[in-house]
Amino acid sequence: TENFQVAIDGPASAGKSTIAKILATDFKYVYVDTGAMYRTITLAANKAGLAYEDEKKIIALLPKITIRFEPDPFMQRVFLNDEEVTNDIRSTEITNNVSLVSSYAAIREDLVKRQRNIADSQNVIMDGRDIGTTVLPNAQVKIFLVASVSERAERRYKENIAKGMTTNLVDLKADIELRDYKDSHRKISPLVQAKDAILVDTTGQKIEDVVSEITKIIKNNQ
Ligand code: C5P
Repeated sequence: TENFQVAIDGPASAGKSTIAKILATDFKYVYVDTGAMYRTITLAANKAGLAYEDEKKIIALLPKITIRFEPDPFMQRVFLNDEEVTNDIRSTEITNNVSLVSSYAAIREDLVKRQRNIADSQNVIMDGRDIGTTVLPNAQVKIFLVASVSERAERRYKENIAKGMTTNLVDLKADIELRDYKDSHRKISPLVQAKDAILVDTTGQKIEDVVSEITKIIKNNQ
């Protein structure tokens, strides 16, 4: 591939999007949040009044769904057709059902195509679960970002408080563990570290230190 591709995969709330956004700004690459795409499909199913178990009807929505990102230095804005869904896709309802919807083969095929199309025409930093293994197998840099589950739950807890959402740490930790379990055990492109990915453990690390560690890796591969 001529374009430069950075793949960042890892479990829920490991800091992927925070780190990827900073790197994308520094390197002037396009940031692609693939989790937001799976969340948008899940939200579209909810808005259409479908059960998350109704694979066929959810798949039938795909041709009518446009997912668009608008860059924003702080919070990238996400649009489902013409409607902004930036905040709605982060609700507990969507978070707790996205793993089921993203396990459907036709959903994954459709979104992988959209993700590859974006990466075809520009340099990207893409984060998700299967970027290094499936979406961009030839990415020049592959990072597998992890952190302890207690630290991930605490980070998410603080984020929620800042947003004015009330949640408790015990539930958050259980939700994260369950989502990781589902994402790692599904049949199609489960969450797994690619053989050629570099493991970065962010437990107890400052964001700026993780950013500079990955910056070095990118520069060494350019
Ligand atoms: O990254 P984020 O936590 O927003 O992802 C939400 C969910 O979308 C994941 O838990 C997973 O079920 C699904 N996902 C996926 N493949 C990706 C990105 C996200 O299956 N590449």
